Amino acid sequence: MKPVLGIETSCDETAAAVVDGDGRILGEAVLTQLAEHAPFGGVVPEIAARAHLRYLPGQVRQAMSEARMTFGDLGGIAATAGPGLIGGLIVGSQFGKGVSLARGIPFVAVNHLEAHALTARLPGLVPDGAPFPYLLFLLSGGHSQCIAVMGVGRHLRLGGTLDDAAGEAFDKVAKLLGLAWPGGPALEAIAANGDPGRIELPRPMMHRPGCDLSFSGLKTAVAQTIARIGPDLSDGQRADIAAGFQRAVVDVLADRAVHAMDMMRTRFPSAGLLVVAGGVASNAAVRTGLAKAAGSRGFSLAAPPVRLCSDNAVMVAWAGIERLRLGGSDSLDAAARPRWPLDTLEAPPV
Ligand code: KG4
Ligand code: ZN
Repeated sequence: MKPVLGIETSCDETAAAVVDGDGRILGEAVLTQLAEHAPFGGVVPEIAARAHLRYLPGQVRQAMSEARMTFGDLGGIAATAGPGLIGGLIVGSQFGKGVSLARGIPFVAVNHLEAHALTARLPGLVPDGAPFPYLLFLLSGGHSQCIAVMGVGRHLRLGGTLDDAAGEAFDKVAKLLGLAWPGGPALEAIAANGDPGRIELPRPMMHRPGCDLSFSGLKTAVAQTIARIGPDLSDGQRADIAAGFQRAVVDVLADRAVHAMDMMRTRFPSAGLLVVAGGVASNAAVRTGLAKAAGSRGFSLAAPPVRLCSDNAVMVAWAGIERLRLGGSDSLDAAARPRWPLDTLEAPPV
């Protein structure tokens, strides 16, 4: 199969990548719009859309030249068409459609969540290649979901967050602690110096049936703790709060993962793989907690490398390859969709 160009513009990464049918990354360019959004403490959709417009052509040029290719060498062009911020989705998918139309190359409108879900199937990442079905625990800044991945275009949402996404909770608590955005990595860094047992924090949803998550109560508890101590936190207090919060999140995620694995086994007795993805999966304590949880249920844990866990265009190109291989592609009037739940995807005929 000829290589596919992937384009990712659903949030604040402007990324392009060329991947071949064997999963080899021939060219890649990822630009994180940190400088644009940092002054506002979060992603500003309008600024993101304008930045994608400005940066995307250069990113595509860079990925294509690294791959030593022209558009005529491609077997397809895959762009994230949802879910995400509508401005960026339009920029990326219209770019893809333009190239598709100009060069007569098939276009694939990729669901961003499916791209995260199928990343584990990139050759070489998981020892036996992540055969379906497997369980995906997606923990990013915008999504926290447990998904049964049954096939390309075939997904079942087992549960997810009722309020904040896991990364969003890290970011908000980091902000309460006065850390810079995005707060997840900064919070993990200071948590390393803290005592996770010093501050009592709740574990929302723990031991409840199902695998839904909720973080708003935990975030409020942190805010109340800080209010009680007063505005001038010492570095030690800050570290203890960060460590206590991180421990609470890990406990909740491990418990929810155990429930999700049990749900998965009930439906698919052969399932034995838990894949974690999303920026939060780069947190070492989260990985360790989930590995333990997986072990306790006889599952193995696969955590793709951080650069493939967070938003990137390799996963979009790969999702395109999986669709194209099954004979799937999309028409040029496929809409960009800010909301696009995974279980509404259409499975290609098999
Ligand atoms: O998947 P991602 O790169 O982008 C999307 O949200 O789609 O995830 C970013 C999120 C942010 O909320 C960030 O704070 C969080 O992942 N994150 C972390 C860590 N690294 C990134 N959270 C906790 N610990 C980390 N080390
Ligand atoms: Zn993502």
